[in-house]
Amino acid sequence: MAEKLAIHGGTPVVSQANISSLGTGRISSGFAAPYDFDEQDIAAVTRVLQKANEDGSLTRGSEQNKFEKDFAALHDSKYGILVNSGTSAFNTIYGAINPDPGTEVICTPWTSAGSVVGGVFHGMVPVFADIDDTLCIDPEDVERKITSKTRVIIAVHMFGNACDMDKLQSIADKHNLFLVEDCSQATFSEYQGKVVGSMGDISGWSFSGKHMTGGGGGMITTNNIKLYERGFGYSDQALNRSDGPYRDYPYVHNFLAQNYKPNELTAAVLNVQLTKVHGYIENKIRDAKNIISGISDIPELTPQKVRPNDRHTYWNLSFALEKNAYNCSSEEFAKAVEGEGIPMSGPYIGTGTPGQGPLYNHPVFANLDAFGKSKYPFDYNRDRPVDYKLTKCPNGEDLMGRGIALSMRGSFTEENVGNIIESIRKVSSHFKK
Ligand SMILES: Cc1ncc(COP(=O)(O)O)c(C=O)c1O
Repeated sequence: MAEKLAIHGGTPVVSQANISSLGTGRISSGFAAPYDFDEQDIAAVTRVLQKANEDGSLTRGSEQNKFEKDFAALHDSKYGILVNSGTSAFNTIYGAINPDPGTEVICTPWTSAGSVVGGVFHGMVPVFADIDDTLCIDPEDVERKITSKTRVIIAVHMFGNACDMDKLQSIADKHNLFLVEDCSQATFSEYQGKVVGSMGDISGWSFSGKHMTGGGGGMITTNNIKLYERGFGYSDQALNRSDGPYRDYPYVHNFLAQNYKPNELTAAVLNVQLTKVHGYIENKIRDAKNIISGISDIPELTPQKVRPNDRHTYWNLSFALEKNAYNCSSEEFAKAVEGEGIPMSGPYIGTGTPGQGPLYNHPVFANLDAFGKSKYPFDYNRDRPVDYKLTKCPNGEDLMGRGIALSMRGSFTEENVGNIIESIRKVSSHFKK
């Protein structure tokens, strides 16, 4: 007889299981914490504050310059721009591209809105393409979605798994489009031996609750000097700065722009995190492989597909439940594992829950709720506004609707990994038909 689940009053696998939400990370007592700040991070913050007392500088200082240079170099890029969040990074990328209103950006609907809302602020219309078994955007559907208005394809490397960059690049080349990489969940993942963020025209990262964090922060890299100059200006009110591309301009606002500057505290923490992130990632990859192998005799749970020669860095470790194999939804499966003391969640961005799931279901797009009572930009230069209620991505709705995801930590112990395997096995045998 299957063991009684903790959610039904049984004994949890992790004793004293007490799942709570803490910021962006879910933790359970006795389990690895989402962050791993140590004396080095704390010393970096102290140093910045002491220096600010002496010279009054808290923005665009030596910490930011160092991080921009080092991070860009690690991505074979000449230029880097640090900003205050991932959403700001992508807003800046669209600002750098400076598209005409009414043009289109093709994106997966399974991502943070932060990947595309910057486009909407620039008058762009998101067009959502389906995903494949890698959970990344399907190049064939991207090609089907191209129109005369398409200007940008954005490749979101999902959960740490790389998009098919060769196929996306050849589509972008054929139609003369910008290829943007969203590496937020995939810092130092690789596509066929190439680090993500080094392949597109311009790439962005979020540093909030991802492989590395500066208590927020976002990053942009590119080799395109025009994109860099406009992007740098866009993130800083298009003003001249002594260390920026507009330094020889008069001190005026040169074009419509935002202030997305980070502070030196964020940059200093990121400089420390950059020395530790490879260790976190190695641990996550090792632990993810052990968890996958620890449940490999359960054919009803299929891990996210990874192409041979790609490096998935497992920001999240996800599985799809086989159709009709369990007496529960994937949401209920995840809740039961969580009850055992493991930080697991159900379908990504709530797929399957009305009004949630793929971005085209979210009110901002479903109701075209953007600029007052107008339908701008969704009706700009069109006979009628775009109707996202008609968007369908059947493969993604099916796959993501059956998904469960484990938030990986760089500091799982062997005992944690054993508990994860035991909990998933316990819940699987309880619900199996
Ligand atoms: C793929 C992706 N893009 C963009 C963002 C937006 O980043 P931020 O939350 O730092 O604004 C996130 C954050 O969750 C993300 O996962």
